[in-house]
Amino acid sequence: MKHRFRYLLPALFVTLSAALTACNKSIEEEPPLFNPTASLQEIMISIIDPNADHVWNAVSTVITSEGIEEKSPQTDEEWAEVRQHAITLAEATNLLLITGRKVAHEGAETSTHPVELGAEHIEATIAKNRSAFIASAHLLHTAVYEAITAIDNKDPEDLLRAGENIQRACETCHARFWYPGETIPTFPRLEGE
Ligand code: HEC
Repeated sequence: MKHRFRYLLPALFVTLSAALTACNKSIEEEPPLFNPTASLQEIMISIIDPNADHVWNAVSTVITSEGIEEKSPQTDEEWAEVRQHAITLAEATNLLLITGRKVAHEGAETSTHPVELGAEHIEATIAKNRSAFIASAHLLHTAVYEAITAIDNKDPEDLLRAGENIQRACETCHARFWYPGETIPTFPRLEGE
């Protein structure tokens, strides 16, 4: 009995390692799933920013000489249109999480103000704090879904509140990864305050 095991175990090991090698090979040969050709900057400019603008501009309060004018989607078509922009914005948060995406293409400027980091620095900060970056993208996704719920309920007030949370989510990520050195300016106190 003892003898048999002595041969059986190495044989089992050889078979197992051969199977594992075959398995690894098939994983290696699989082509990459995504083609993240646009930079994070291009996604901000082409998808995130314009679609957020549509969601923000859907409800507004304009003060004119004639009085206060509240603007919100009126028809089913107008609600459907703002919903399309909100869905695009929500899904764009997933695009931010695809690995291998560059922050900016060669020569593109991400820093126009001294507190804004350059692309390489942003990339390194994201790599070092990946879970915070993922959490920031998820925060935006959650805020956009608040907006989608408000749209489905045709509730302008909730949509306005969701818009503020969207804004906060943008700022949370920007403050951490784009201009982490920024300090909030302090204003001198006014007399009587
Ligand atoms: C998960 C992180 C993250 C979230 C969320 C995010 N951004 Fe950004 N955004 C960045 C980073 C990093 C940069 C700096 C790189 C760059 O300049 O594109 C940036 C830059 C930008 C820029 C400047 C693009 C340029 O260089 O001209 C705009 C505009 C922008 N974001 C809009 C938004 C808006 C609007 C939202 C929310 C609706 C948002 N972003 C949410 C990470 C984020």
